[in-house]
Order: sequence, then C-alpha cells, then structure tokens
Amino acid sequence: MCGIIACRTASPAAPFLVRGLRLLEYRGYDSIGVAVLTSGGSTAVIRSVNRVDDLANMVDGWSGQPLGGIGIGHTRWATHGAVTMANAHPHLDCTGRVAVVHNGIIENADELRHELSAGGHEFASAVDSEVISHLLENELETGKDLNKAMQAIVLKLAGTWAMVAMDSRDGRVVGTAHGSPLLLGHSAHGVFFASDVSAIGDWVDQFQALDDGDIVELAAEPVWIRSGAAPQPPRLWSADRSTRQGGLDGHPDYMHAEIDEQPEVAARILDELANGIPTGSLWRNLDGPAFERIAVIGCGTSLNAAAVVAQAFGRLGGLSHRSLVASEAVSAVIEPGTLVLVFSQSGETADIMRAVDHVQTFGASMLAVTNNPHSSLARRSDSVVTCQAGPEIGVAATKTFTAQVITGVCVALSALVAQGRLDRSRARELADDLRHLPDMLAQALVVSKDVIPSLVGDLVSASGFLFLGRGPGVTFAEEGALKLKELTYRWAEAYPAGELKHGPLALVESGTPVIVVDNDDRRLRGNVAEVEARGGRVIRIGSSGSTIPALGRSIDLPLAGGMDQWGPLESVIPMQVLARELALALGRDVDKPRNLAKSVTVD
Ligand code: M6R
Repeated sequence: MCGIIACRTASPAAPFLVRGLRLLEYRGYDSIGVAVLTSGGSTAVIRSVNRVDDLANMVDGWSGQPLGGIGIGHTRWATHGAVTMANAHPHLDCTGRVAVVHNGIIENADELRHELSAGGHEFASAVDSEVISHLLENELETGKDLNKAMQAIVLKLAGTWAMVAMDSRDGRVVGTAHGSPLLLGHSAHGVFFASDVSAIGDWVDQFQALDDGDIVELAAEPVWIRSGAAPQPPRLWSADRSTRQGGLDGHPDYMHAEIDEQPEVAARILDELANGIPTGSLWRNLDGPAFERIAVIGCGTSLNAAAVVAQAFGRLGGLSHRSLVASEAVSAVIEPGTLVLVFSQSGETADIMRAVDHVQTFGASMLAVTNNPHSSLARRSDSVVTCQAGPEIGVAATKTFTAQVITGVCVALSALVAQGRLDRSRARELADDLRHLPDMLAQALVVSKDVIPSLVGDLVSASGFLFLGRGPGVTFAEEGALKLKELTYRWAEAYPAGELKHGPLALVESGTPVIVVDNDDRRLRGNVAEVEARGGRVIRIGSSGSTIPALGRSIDLPLAGGMDQWGPLESVIPMQVLARELALALGRDVDKPRNLAKSVTVD
C-alpha cells in the first residue's frame, strides 16, 4: 500500500529515495515517484506507473540540473483516482514551489478542492492528496514558512494522513501524521522520514515515531512540535536486524522462500518461548493481567491465526472466547475482565488501529501479537509479543501465520498456567508437543513438494474450490481457502464440514475440488462420502493413506494430544504449496497478487 520516504542527506538524495522505494515495493503499489531539489533551486519531479526499476532508469537518465541531497518519494496504491502518471505522487502546488507525498485518505477533499478551485487553484490530478499542496501554497503566500503552513493546514483536514512536504524556496522538509504512521530516522548519511522502518532500516540506526498531530521538520537537529510546543524528545528505537529484508537466496520467489522457512521460524520461536510455558514465566514477563475471558482481533490471515489461539484458550482453559473481525469491531462490547489479543503481522493495518481505538474506550488490557515490534500497534498496546518470523515480503502471509499461531499458543499455555487454569505437568507435555512442530512442518513440506505438483494439472481448470474441516481443523481450512483465492483469483470457500448439507453441497458436481483438512475426526468420513457420491474430487490432507499425507500423525512421534487442542498447524503447508503451484500454473504473480497490498493502511 502507499509508502513514504524523504531525506536530507550529505550525498545525493535520489539513490536513497530509490533504494527506500525498492524496500517499500513489497507493500504493493500501482505508481511511484520522487521529487528532488536541484542545485538550481528547482524541484525535479520524476514519476512512473511502472515498477521501481523504471523510475531508477529515469533517475539515472536525468539530464536537468544536478539533483541534490533533499528529496521525497512515494509508492501509491490507488484509492481515489485511476492509476495514471498525473495521479502518482509527489503532487505540486500551482507554482511548483511545494511538493507533497501523502498516505491515507483526506475525507473532506471534495469540499476543499471545490473551495480551492473557486479561489483560482488549478488541479493536475484526480487524487485527494493534491488539496494538501494547494492548501500549503495559500499559507506560504501569506509569508509563513513551511512548518507554520503545515500547522495551519492540518486544522482544515479530515481523515487520515502521514504526509511530507518539501519547499523548493528554502529546502525545508516537514512531515506530520494523523492516523497513519510516520517515522523519523537518524543515520550517518543524514535524516529520513519513512512510513515503514523497512524503507530505511538498511542504513538507519535509530528512529523515532511521530504521534498523531506531531509536526516535525527534517533537519540535522529536527524541530519537533506537539500541541504547539516542543515535547520531551520522543523515544529512540533501534532499527534492528529483524527489520531488514533478506534476498531470494536461490528461491524462485519470496513466497517459495517464506513457505520453506517455516520449520526454522517455528524452531526459533519455540527456542525462545517454550521454556516459559510450564513455569508461567512467559506470561508473567509480559506483565499479563488477570482475565476471565478472551477476545481476539485481526484481519485476513492474522484473524485466522487469532481464531486458532482463541480456540486454544477455550479448549485448554475452559474460557469463553470470541474472534472479532477488526473492520467490524467498532460495534463490539468488551466486557470487564476481557483480555484482548490483537494479531497483525505488520502492526500497521488501519482496520486494526481503528479497532484498537474502540477497545481502548473500554479500558481493556491489550496484548499485541505482531511481527513488527516497532509498529503503531506495538506502541499502543499494554504488552507486545513479537512473532519473530523475520521480514515477510510475499503479499500472501505464510510464515507469519505459522509464527502467529505458535507464538499465540505459547502465550495461551503460559497464561493459563500462571492463572492456575492449567496444570504444570500437563503444560510440560503440551510444550513438548509444540517442540515437535518444526519436524512436523518440515515433513509436511517434503510431502507437499512430492505430491502436489502431480495434482495441479487436474485442478488448474476448476472454477471454484471448497475447503472443509471439523473442530480445530475448520480455521485451517479457512486459511487454505483464503490463500487459494488471493493467489489464483479463483473462488474458494471454507466450511465446517457439517454445514455442507445445509447449502454448499449444491455447489458440488462432477470434478469439483473439495480439500479436506482431515484431522482424524470420525465425522469427516460421512462428509467425504457425501461429496464423493456427487462426483466431487476429494483431496484429503491427513495421515498416511490420505491424498496428501502431510499431518504429523503420519510420522512416528510421541504426541500428548496438544494437536487436538490447537489444531493441525502443519496442514497449512500443503494448502500454501497448492495455492502457489496453481497460481503459477495460471500465470499469476505469486508475490504480488492483483489488487492486494502487504500493509493495508486505509480502512
Ligand atoms: O498486517 P496484518 O497482519 O494486519 O494484515 C492483515 C491482512 O491484510 C493479511 O493477513 C492478509 O489477509 C494476507 N495478505 C493474506 O495472505
């Protein structure tokens, strides 16, 4: 989704901007652009509706006045206005003096555009963001500097924004945030703004986060204004290794690399967390509160991971639990004694942040389960547990799902021990079950790579897919269906298998693919028979003898029943591999599915 980078550097700005935009690519975008101050004091605006490589070539081929060390850049994911060069950021005012990049949505843009046009301003694009540059133009004309102009115009805006403006007259660069993240990074090369630490994490050592309403001038000694005055210096965070993106390392795409990484991710998390389960120390170190019920919040894959964890709390601790879709959580009543776990790999999802606003009105304790310990979500939660999946570049979540489930289950077990709801010796047995997961995931990978390529030919022309599960298998079936639809652009629906005869069975005809997460629930046999009787093509992901014998029970392991509590996590691997293989056979871009973004920062 939209991304911002800006800099004031000792050396030319353009290479930093292009590199930062490349690092933001994974978020998904439709157009891209930079504005850089030239040695002659003008603004060079270079934009493209193609990829970063195209922009990089245009920057390299720049033949105007030399580009200097001050600039702003943006990746745009279209919300208002089509994907055109004119709609790409940065946007200029009528005079070309001020350039602006913006993430978020200006809700009163139509009214402002009307007023500004009536006042003689000419708009070059259809996007809401352009009103910002014209509003700044009006304020600058009155003699204000960019900092003061920014303070004046934010009072006129409604909606959400992280934005950075650059004044070519004096080289000032000013950023501000309201409901959308913006960071200030410090490095030996200079100072930076970025909407996501991954854009600058390769060279920035420390960064600070703007609070809503903060206005910051990008300078060697940044000028920070909060509520009209200079605040205490905001906390400095380290841009650690986990924020830096790895390469493909021989893999054909990031999704392939990230699927393969899952056994290693699982082992890393369990090394860190599993010892804290039987003692309850993992929970106590998080300063977790007492609680009587659980609510989890998430979107998409993170919601599926959250639901697995909520159910584990219920099964293991007898606690009432519910899963809230973040975009609808605003109508939820959070009862006293509720522990709210918020799951988000990015920690920047706008729907999540609005849900957090709502939850906080109830004074509920909030634990963030996120892959980004520097995120807005992490900063706003009472406590944070990091998933340690490492950067995930593929838009389709794979290793972060596995990481969220394992992290969440470890926290659940430890919390239940600390609250006296789970016996320590039983917790030790369950922790041992968890420790088998890396092997089980590795085995599922081997089986999937062996079996799935031969299934693809028969399935590639199917127009729709059903996914079925029972008990703890249902949520994994839901995750399998989500993965398949986002990667292949084919319809895929997941149901508790018992629901089949209440409607979806009508969809089944000769050859309809029905993927069954077969966790040995005896009731599944009848459901499979119902599908087969109608000619459906059943693909069972289960123990030995299944179509894809990828579930852990097929390997000879001394399991203590944990998998029946949190479900067959390893079933997700064949479903990820199947979705990727089918998508490739259909000619899809598996790392960047159409219409989707990695970090969804608009609600
Ligand atoms: O960053 P988040 O975990 O909050 O993102 C939530 C969803 O947008 C995300 O899980 C999405 O569903 C995945 N790309 C699906 O693979």
